[in-house]
Parts: sequence; C-alpha cells; structure tokens
Amino acid sequence: MELFIDSANLDEIKIAASWGIIDGVTTNPSLIAKEGRDFKKTILEITSLIDGPISAETISPDAAGMVKEGKEFAAWHKNIHVKVPCTVEGIKAVREFTQLQIKTNVTLVFSPNQVLLAAKAGATLISPFVGRLVDAGEDGMQMIGESLQIIENYGFESRLLVASVRDTRMVTDAAVLGAHIATVPFKVLEQLFKHPLTDVGIERFLADWKKVAA
Ligand code: G3P
Repeated sequence: MELFIDSANLDEIKIAASWGIIDGVTTNPSLIAKEGRDFKKTILEITSLIDGPISAETISPDAAGMVKEGKEFAAWHKNIHVKVPCTVEGIKAVREFTQLQIKTNVTLVFSPNQVLLAAKAGATLISPFVGRLVDAGEDGMQMIGESLQIIENYGFESRLLVASVRDTRMVTDAAVLGAHIATVPFKVLEQLFKHPLTDVGIERFLADWKKVAA
C-alpha cells in the first residue's frame, strides 16, 4: 500500500520525506488555509519535496470552473493531481480531465456508488473519507472493502485512496483490505513507527551490551 501524507505543512512534509516511505501528498482547502501561505507557492514547494502525486483542490461549484482551475494547476507540475468533489459537476469535470490526460483525485466520497461513478469517469485517484463516515456512525471500512471489490470486478484503472484517517488502526485495516493508498496525517504517521515493546527491547539490548563491553 502506498502512503501519502495528508498535510500542507512544509516542515511536516520535509520530515516525512526524510523517512523514505512517503509516496505522495494530499492537500485540501482547509489544510492550505491552516498554513496561511500562498496556495500556488505551497503546492510547488511540496512538488520539490516529494516525487509523487500531489493533490491540489479546485473550489469552483461548476464543471467549467473546475476544468479551468484544474488546467492551470496541472500546468504547474507533472505530478499535480486535480482534486474535485464527488458531485454531478465534479464527475463531468473528471470526464473532461480524463480526455485531456490530466490526473485527478475525486474527493468527499462516502459511498461505493460514488466510487463507481468516479471510476467510470476515469478518475486517477478516488478518496473515500473513512473517519468522517465513522463520525457519522457508519462502517467506513465496509465501504472501503465494497469499493475495492467494484474496482476489481470491472478492472477500473482508478486507485482507491483511503482518506480522513484518524488512527493507526485505520491504516492497518486499509492495508489488510488491500487499499491502493492511504493518506495519513503527520501525527498518525509518526505513531506507525512506534510500539512500546520496541522501546523496551532496545533498552534491554543496550543494557546487556554494556555488560559485555565492561
Ligand atoms: O484529505 C483530507 C481528508 O483526509 C479529511 O480528513 O480528518 O478532516 O476528516 P478529516
């Protein structure tokens, strides 16, 4: 499973890039606003930190506006994936981007039927928001399993990107189900490395080694 970082914070992205296991970056208007920096500059700096898909989100309500924005983003860098919401207008825009060979990420996806529509339109990435489904009392991982089955049944080329990841268990569940990608906040990525028994084990090995060295 590929791991993306879900962040627009350049310090976090730099640290995560140094680990050597991050394959891409997702941003959204909320994450960009949190940083208080220029959108284009932020996206371009991110492209220089990670050599993989970088999602930049459109804000127009209609397909024509999304296509105009997306064409501009795509011209900034080859790795940019134009993010559009899963609405009628968004799906129309994805169809156009597909014809233009512009890579896309369909976001705010909450049902397997939305995955089917995005895949039919030729989306490069499709992003179900698992954490928000769980917040709403739904079984987020069941939705991921069904979506993966739909993609496999019909041989769609779209890749499922599990988003709105809140904890390490969600990363495990996504990987067990065979999700193509999970985008994960920095704090949760850091936690993926950790296990208390690893720390205890290191302490014990070092203590024993001191005895040998003495
Ligand atoms: O890419 C954004 C998505 O992951 C949203 O996460 O935590 O705001 O539901 P969250």
